[in-house]
Amino acid sequence: MSEVYTEIEHLMNELRTLEPKTPAELEALRIKFLGSKGVLKDLFAQMKEIDASARKEFGARVNELKQFAEERIQLWRESVQEEVKIDAQMDLTAPGVGLQFGNRHPVQIVKQEIISIFERIGFQVAEGPEIEDDWHNFTALNTPEDHPARDMQDTFYLPGDRLLRTHTSPVQIRVMENHEPPIRIITPGRVYRNETISARAHCTFHQVEGLYIAENVSFAQLKQTLLYFARQMFGKDAKIRLRPSYFPFTEPSAELDVYCFICKGKGCSVCKGTGWLEIGGCGMVDPAVLSNVKLDANRYSGFAFGMGIERITMLKFGINDIRLFYENDIRFLSQFKS
Ligand code: DAH
Repeated sequence: MSEVYTEIEHLMNELRTLEPKTPAELEALRIKFLGSKGVLKDLFAQMKEIDASARKEFGARVNELKQFAEERIQLWRESVQEEVKIDAQMDLTAPGVGLQFGNRHPVQIVKQEIISIFERIGFQVAEGPEIEDDWHNFTALNTPEDHPARDMQDTFYLPGDRLLRTHTSPVQIRVMENHEPPIRIITPGRVYRNETISARAHCTFHQVEGLYIAENVSFAQLKQTLLYFARQMFGKDAKIRLRPSYFPFTEPSAELDVYCFICKGKGCSVCKGTGWLEIGGCGMVDPAVLSNVKLDANRYSGFAFGMGIERITMLKFGINDIRLFYENDIRFLSQFKS
């Protein structure tokens, strides 16, 4: 007796879990349960042989199964038919569903904007390798091996004489080694530093480097170029400020600030009440660097600058965590339209 109850339980479970996908599958199930040689027919046939005392209970269980089978088959019929209906109504002349386009990454949007601002005043884009050697990343940039300024940037060293570039400045060297002045380049690209990742720092980010080498290049030209950039990037009221600083490859050197375009210089949480935001460094190319690349330092002079692209992007879009750029969260990325 218990065997037949186990079988009924098993059939109930089947009804609960099965999901026919096509009319043919549905029909097969209908025949299995309700057909003239189906399981229910078989169960009802067993009724005669069952002891009168157990018959009532058995009958109730079989009826329950039958009712459930009918209910489920009705439900299945509705869902399978719905699919068939949609198919039958398909309009083959309807226009196709548009493809979803991706967006440019915010860092790329700002990078492109920086490039086009400098291209308008005659700068050309130059690129260099991300795996560099010591000469281009440090020594030629007036930072020999025992120079304390090497500690300013934590470097990922690779086997041999190789390393991941810590800034885009080595591209300056590569271009000067291979071209005669006048040189007017910007070099956007990815750089690497062995830093602890936090909301403000990452082990990889982007910089854009600028370099102008010619005869009689002046600090005034550097200032005007940076002011032009700031106005194009942050609006026509933008102001810049240069604070004396130190870089081995420039003399004099300065830290480049733009006025805080969020509070218009009044002081807010982003600029920490100062009214100014730091976006990079700059200066007049040190004559020692010109000599390193065999350019006549008496004849030529030049200016250089380097800016963090993530930093500018964060300021422009009000992003407060640099890690968001590398997490590939579609909810973050899809907010930026180019
Ligand atoms: N390379 C420097 C850095 O990564 C930035 C920099 C400063 C670049 C001054 C320059 C410059 O070209 O003149 O911190």
